[in-house]
Amino acid sequence: MSNYHIKHLEEYFQVYRKSVREPESFWEEIAEEHFVWRKKWDNVLDWDFTKPEIKWFKNAKLNITENCLDRHLPTRGDKTAILFEPNDPEEQTEHITYKQLHERVSRMANVFKDHGVQKGDRVCIYLPMIPELAVAVLACARIGAIHSVVFAGFSAIALATRINDSDCKLVVTSDGSYRGNKTINLKGIVDAALEDCPGVEHVLVVKRTGESIDIKKGRDKWLQPLLDKAYADCNAEIMDAEDPLFILYTSGSTGKPKGMVHTCAGYMVYTAYTFKNVFQYKEEDVYWCTADIGWITGHSYIVYGPLINGATTVMFEGVPSYPDYGRFWEVVEKHKINQFYTAPTAIRALAKENLSYVEKYDLSSLRVLGTVGEPINEEAWHWYNNNIGQKQSPIVDTWWQTETGGIMISPIPYVTPTTPTYATLPFIGIQPALMDEQGKEIKGNQVEGRLCIKFPWPSMARTIWGDHDRYRDTYFTAYQNNYFTGDGALRDAVGYYRITGRVDDVIIVSGHNLGTAPIEDSINEHPAVAESAIVGFPHDVKGNALYGFVILKETGESRDRDNLRKEINQQITEQIGPIAKLDKIQFVSGVPKTRSGKIMRRILRKIAGKDTENLGDISTLLNPEVVKEIMDNAL
Ligand code: WT7
Repeated sequence: MSNYHIKHLEEYFQVYRKSVREPESFWEEIAEEHFVWRKKWDNVLDWDFTKPEIKWFKNAKLNITENCLDRHLPTRGDKTAILFEPNDPEEQTEHITYKQLHERVSRMANVFKDHGVQKGDRVCIYLPMIPELAVAVLACARIGAIHSVVFAGFSAIALATRINDSDCKLVVTSDGSYRGNKTINLKGIVDAALEDCPGVEHVLVVKRTGESIDIKKGRDKWLQPLLDKAYADCNAEIMDAEDPLFILYTSGSTGKPKGMVHTCAGYMVYTAYTFKNVFQYKEEDVYWCTADIGWITGHSYIVYGPLINGATTVMFEGVPSYPDYGRFWEVVEKHKINQFYTAPTAIRALAKENLSYVEKYDLSSLRVLGTVGEPINEEAWHWYNNNIGQKQSPIVDTWWQTETGGIMISPIPYVTPTTPTYATLPFIGIQPALMDEQGKEIKGNQVEGRLCIKFPWPSMARTIWGDHDRYRDTYFTAYQNNYFTGDGALRDAVGYYRITGRVDDVIIVSGHNLGTAPIEDSINEHPAVAESAIVGFPHDVKGNALYGFVILKETGESRDRDNLRKEINQQITEQIGPIAKLDKIQFVSGVPKTRSGKIMRRILRKIAGKDTENLGDISTLLNPEVVKEIMDNAL
């Protein structure tokens, strides 16, 4: 028997050593014993980071939905697969069993097929956190279509860019979505996006809010009547191990989002194995991850990882503050949640509220608490530990990325002793390395550097959709023969890792990964703006917030500054989405630049963070005089 479920620290070290010394036989055993295959692989791993080319379980055949659904039917058919908790606490919770989920996925898969979707076609899913979102994802996987879920908080322009980048021919959306006491007209956003998306043939619309929408004849259809008529069974398409399963966009250092491509077999094996161990999931448990399926966390740890393991996974439509700040804890009590996985930004926001919102509820069912998305500060960690876990539940601080597909550095609860703010030890099979700026590995402990991964793991993204060169240049050229994460990290005296934050021009705001370039591009399109530079600054709830330094054109100089600020944020909201709005906008006559014209963000970051004691040598700048002006007028 392979060590599928790790139970103590010695076992972790033993399994870890094996996974590093003999990765192929290690993963082979895991894959053999815990998954359903149509055909086994010829070779466990082929790789070459210089190309880069990574192939796991070469020539194996499978369908991930047979692992998520069909195989559970004999033993768990009546077990709840998805527990849907609506935005409105008065609305009934929905329990969807494995049998029902299998049927719903099959029906939707048949509807997709009836609309011409074939293996390899791209389907864009733009839905709120309702069961149809998970069903649509699995329905794509059932027929071998590649899903591209776009978070339903993105704007029409951002949606259109993503639809066009991967040539989606079908879009699944809803009339509207609920968010706390607001409703958002999603279909209206889709309509606006599709004005620029000639490749989309069909739009299938889920009825959620009941608001009135436009139905474009020949293109748009309500989904439910089609589902009612569809067959309740659908053969699973037989997929190659390395066929794409999905595309998920993440921000990068240019305006164009990167469509990370994940493939079938490796992603399945790694997300399932990490889910089992990082959450110590047991058969009767109810597991809740508060993320949105629009992000990788939702893909891997709401949908695939839990369902492959036959778990009960909660889908929550609402927000932590509605109807009040006790909502998370109310849901924990109501469903007797055992594993609770959320973002540091949510913890910080809730920690600001009165403790009575927590104390009202019985949280004794909780056994494991998790965080993801950004570094968790010590204060938030203790609040979570003291008040939510009541010092009884280990906190797993899980470090990973859209690109990694699954959790990479994390404690295993009840196995790895935790330290606040440390993601602790690499997960089984993961070989981290810290690099210096010259590209040399820094060995030993109590060191700090840039975080790389030395060896492939099964769920790594294989390419960027349509741009393999960008994949190579972004991740595999900075450090030869290594995957570069873009993060900095330190390794302490016992070998624990602490992630110190991004070392590139990505800023994590409320756990959302935002590139500075697309935001700057958006601001620069404003007719009054000549140039801009965005940096992050510390924010007590969001972790980081955005600070914009904006240079106006001469024609913009006479404009009212507050109006301009509103217009700039409005423009960002339209082009990217409200998550990318700036907290502060300072109008400046110039931004500090090197002699080669590169913006010195380091200096701007210090000014934005009110940390101007030691700006370093600014005399070599092209325009040192602007630094004083910017400092004098800093917000
Ligand atoms: C970036 C990836 C992983 C799913 C959600 C975010 C930061 C993520 C942690 C953590 C410190 C973290 C990193 C990473 N990050 N988890 N536990 N501690 N930083 O996915 O949008 O691809 O962002 O989020 O900077 O590179 P993503």
